[in-house]
Amino acid sequence: MSANFAKVVMERCAALGQISDEPSRLTRTFASPAMHRANRLVGAWMRQAGMKTRTDAIGNLIGHYRGRKPGAKILLLGSHLDTVRQAGKFDGPLGVILAISCIEKLHRQEVRLPFAIEVVGFADEEGVRYQTACLGSKVLAGCFDARDLRRKDANGIALADAIKRFGGIPTKLPSARLHPKNLLGYVEVHIEQGPVLEQKNLAVGVVTAIAGQSRFKISFTGCAGHAGTVPMNLRRDALCAAAEFIVAVESFARKTNGLVATIGQIHAEPGASNVIPGVATLTLDVRHAKDPVRLAGCMALQKLARRIAGTRKIMVIWRPVQQTASVPCSPQFSRRLRRAVQSHQREVAALPSGAGHDAAMMARITPAAMLFVRCQGGVSHHPDESVRSADVRVAFEVVNSFLQRLAADYP
Ligand code: HGY
Ligand code: MN
Ligand code: MN
Repeated sequence: MSANFAKVVMERCAALGQISDEPSRLTRTFASPAMHRANRLVGAWMRQAGMKTRTDAIGNLIGHYRGRKPGAKILLLGSHLDTVRQAGKFDGPLGVILAISCIEKLHRQEVRLPFAIEVVGFADEEGVRYQTACLGSKVLAGCFDARDLRRKDANGIALADAIKRFGGIPTKLPSARLHPKNLLGYVEVHIEQGPVLEQKNLAVGVVTAIAGQSRFKISFTGCAGHAGTVPMNLRRDALCAAAEFIVAVESFARKTNGLVATIGQIHAEPGASNVIPGVATLTLDVRHAKDPVRLAGCMALQKLARRIAGTRKIMVIWRPVQQTASVPCSPQFSRRLRRAVQSHQREVAALPSGAGHDAAMMARITPAAMLFVRCQGGVSHHPDESVRSADVRVAFEVVNSFLQRLAADYP
């Protein structure tokens, strides 16, 4: 039976992977038309699994599978439905769709547990459109920063307007938060997005902690000019300053154990081939499992940017966009998850997550644990992202064992 459920999970990830804002690749960003279509499709699967569905004030899709008694505490499952640009089809959706299948199994067997279960399809974990990750889980965790409503996307649309256009209600974000007293905990199934499980030849692993991350927007301002007439020694080329900084970031991160730093976006203005760039804006993403190392790294990189700009007579503006502290997963929920893994896999791997996840926000209001699923070559944030049906089956069985164990221990 679990092989069939795994097959359906794979098929549904493929179907959802066809819903994109871009014709030739998978990109589904916050509150976009594709997110509307994705919520509609996943909402139908939730209802088919016996859940009642709702969409909250920021656009999170939530399916509710009631417990034996009204007012029962709620176990949260889920992950995010938005994607990066040119994404793979499992980062996020696997966790939502697998959770729905676990509920569908209960529903088919007419099993009611002593607790209710809610499956959440978060509206925005990647932060592609507004650069602030986890907008959806921040609202549920009650830590959404209302000042972010003024953020503008690349088309100048404010976050508040994007929420309204999606059918959400910005003024209702505070009341959309979940209350810890009603919750049992949160479990997220997610692809590992790294090579460890593949190296250990294991289907699943239990996450120990989620690395902290710092995101910045940095702009170098020099002086635009004629590409043909300004001698090299008289130039204040913003893009060259940015380029020198980018290479320096890479070499700094290579020399700092466990630190990763990425320049994911760069934009040169005025952006003509025969004009010396006057402004170069880039994004910087810095991560480390230990917050003090990450924060010290960010300080050192900011100093580096200032030194490079100084020698080139360029101005640099360093704007923090988002800081997320590293978050340990709940020891007691992780212990339960490890016991569930033990009954389906010869060895239980415990590993940290370099990627950010909604679980990091949910851990602020309830015990949170994560189950990683092996992904081919550790590839993610790429169309080649893939998982095996057999590993999805193991994850499905582990989550079901987890639910049974939680129910058995339920006071
Ligand atoms: O960027 C991340 O770590 C995650 O994929 N949002
Ligand atoms: Mn993800
Ligand atoms: Mn991701």
